[in-house]
Amino acid sequence: MDISRRIEAAMAAAIEGAQAGGPARLAHALNYAVVPGGARIRPTICLSVAMACGDDRPALADAAATALELIHCASLVHDDLPAFDNADFRRGKPTVHLAYSEPLAVLTGDSLIIAAFEALAQAVPEDRPADALRALALTRVLARHTGMPNGICAGQGWESESSVDLRAYHRSKTGALFMAATQMGAVAAGQEPEPWEELGARIGEAFQVADDLRDALYDAETLGKPVGQDAALARPSAVQELGVQGAIKRLRDILAGAIASIPSCQGEAQLAAMVQLYAQRMTPVAPVRA
Ligand code: IPE
Ligand code: IPE
Ligand code: MG
Ligand code: MG
Repeated sequence: MDISRRIEAAMAAAIEGAQAGGPARLAHALNYAVVPGGARIRPTICLSVAMACGDDRPALADAAATALELIHCASLVHDDLPAFDNADFRRGKPTVHLAYSEPLAVLTGDSLIIAAFEALAQAVPEDRPADALRALALTRVLARHTGMPNGICAGQGWESESSVDLRAYHRSKTGALFMAATQMGAVAAGQEPEPWEELGARIGEAFQVADDLRDALYDAETLGKPVGQDAALARPSAVQELGVQGAIKRLRDILAGAIASIPSCQGEAQLAAMVQLYAQRMTPVAPVRA
């Protein structure tokens, strides 16, 4: 099965498990928040690393990928709420609080976060109790990169501080889940997480710079979500700090470093090719908004 089919099948199973017999509107909102997905870049990176490391426990790798994407989708639902960015659309359709209500959007985010950890807890087959150690390590990596003091919660929390270090803010808000993606792929395949942190950190940093560029340069129709938000909300961004050309240069430098940081493993060459491909896709080529 290719990577994208693995992700969609595992995500669908997790959502069905969370929906079964529960209140209908919230159950519906869970699916709405997750399907259709965006780029699914975090689970794709996670499975790519697992495969580069031999992928000897595909069920654990699938659970890791699913857990990451569920946390990501939850963070988007909460981020779009009026209390945060007050966004009207996401992935080309109305945001969850507009489609379902604010209480249901809060609960959708909460439920997806819980479903993520449940996916990891359920990934250990009865005949392989030793896999529980890997599932526990996966849980630890995911928790560390989701909450305080350095996960997504911290990243969002920096927006309420009067002075912010841009790199620290990006590293928590966006980088954390990319670090989790590379490390969880490795852990699912029985490797130590630490050597994989730098690759995730660099991809995440590049991704956030690219996101800032898109926010400054593209139109809402192209992106499927509101644009110009960083400037409108006076949020720190790479474009605000470095200008457009400076941000593009930083993006290229970071991705070159990402490729150089890939730990040696059996699928090293394929992983380098994957990062190279992302590098091309991430770099804005034809701005549609001046
Ligand atoms: C958007 O993430 C939010 C940020 C962390 C900047 P993505 O661009 O990965 O969103 P989807 O999942 O593809 O919609
Ligand atoms: C949202 O970040 C993603 C989270 C990490 C919660 P942004 O607010 O910068 O991203 P968009 O523009 O809404 O996708
Ligand atoms: Mg935000
Ligand atoms: Mg936002």
